[in-house]
Amino acid sequence: MRKLLLIVTGGIAAYKALELVRLATKAGYGVTAVLTKAGAQFVTPLSLQALTGSKVYQELFSLTDESEMGHIELSRAADLVVVAPATADILAKMTAGLADDLASTLLLATDKPVLVAPAMNVRMWEHAATQANMATLAKRGVLVVPPDEGPMACGEYGPGRLTEPPAILAAIKAFFADGPLKGLHAIVTSGPTHEPIDPVRYLANRSSGKQGHAIAAALAALGARVTLVSGPVNVRDPAGVRMVRVETAREMRDAVRAALPADIAVCAAAVADWRVEEAGQKIKKDGSGQPPALRLTENPDILAEISQPAPSRPRLVIGFAAETEKLAEHAAAKRARKGCDWLVANDVGGTGIMGGDENEILLLTPNGSEAWDKMDKTALARKLAARIGEFFA
Ligand code: CTP
Repeated sequence: MRKLLLIVTGGIAAYKALELVRLATKAGYGVTAVLTKAGAQFVTPLSLQALTGSKVYQELFSLTDESEMGHIELSRAADLVVVAPATADILAKMTAGLADDLASTLLLATDKPVLVAPAMNVRMWEHAATQANMATLAKRGVLVVPPDEGPMACGEYGPGRLTEPPAILAAIKAFFADGPLKGLHAIVTSGPTHEPIDPVRYLANRSSGKQGHAIAAALAALGARVTLVSGPVNVRDPAGVRMVRVETAREMRDAVRAALPADIAVCAAAVADWRVEEAGQKIKKDGSGQPPALRLTENPDILAEISQPAPSRPRLVIGFAAETEKLAEHAAAKRARKGCDWLVANDVGGTGIMGGDENEILLLTPNGSEAWDKMDKTALARKLAARIGEFFA
């Protein structure tokens, strides 16, 4: 039986932890709960105990607990530590490495993967401190089930609501997924890149990140450990993947390099080919009526770089090609030029592909090319992930 250590921290969303326990035990997970002092203001240890069917831990210095199971042992007895809901406070403690109560001590002492489901007021969630903490935690490999957007108990509206328990369970299942990609590491790039022209303006493109994010989720669902390197997008982070947020092509290249080694690389990002050579102070109108000249310089080609023969080259490198004409011809040339193994080519000339919900592709592999029917980007991601699974079978 897979074992979860569920840490319930304070906040109105704590009541949803009870539903999570119910769903998780029904799905066959063994759950041990830890309730913080603030958490106990919202749910009682008795309800958690009744639902988990086992003792609920609350105190750091409890002689009885220590004689039954020491806190270090408790932190390591589970296969996955889940913090739901995770308050701004516990996330800050995790980032700083504080250990002033049982929950934070367990999180510092554990050698097991940690998944957090944040829940807090929208301003607290959007605060630079919380966002910086989330970025640090993600970098350390903490898995995040991002909060939902909607009306909040405090009367405000925005992101910060604890996501619904079935979505948290889905992330837990994805973590334990025993699919064909189990044990493999996949790096996926997604979204556009933003290249600054000056401190307030940038060059960008219409990529939404929908396709890349869906591929990351589909690979995770087949058991892969996924690092998703994403440019600025408005789509939700897929549950159960490690997020690395970047802005420019050079940051994306550095993040991909830092995430290596990997078994699979899927470069779905629409990386800007060029950046402005020197993005200095805000460009002012000088009154001459002459528009400023932007000098562009080429960005690193991440796909071409990762496809280079090297000891760290992923076994399967998949590129994308956004074309507006002569799809098959340009795609074949691009696959050869970039040196990737597979290439997913789509015609972005029509309306609604870039940024839309559907995609129609041509898949080029060393065995030839196949035209796939037009389908939803999520369905396409699942089909591609299944093909990747067959490759590694
Ligand atoms: N790509 C990349 N780094 C770049 C440019 C592109 O990793 N600097 C990757 C994309 O993620 C995609 C593939 O290369 O997987 C092809 O991107 P595309 O924009 O279609 O090709 P380009 O190389 O930009 O070629 P062109 O614009 O001339 O068609």
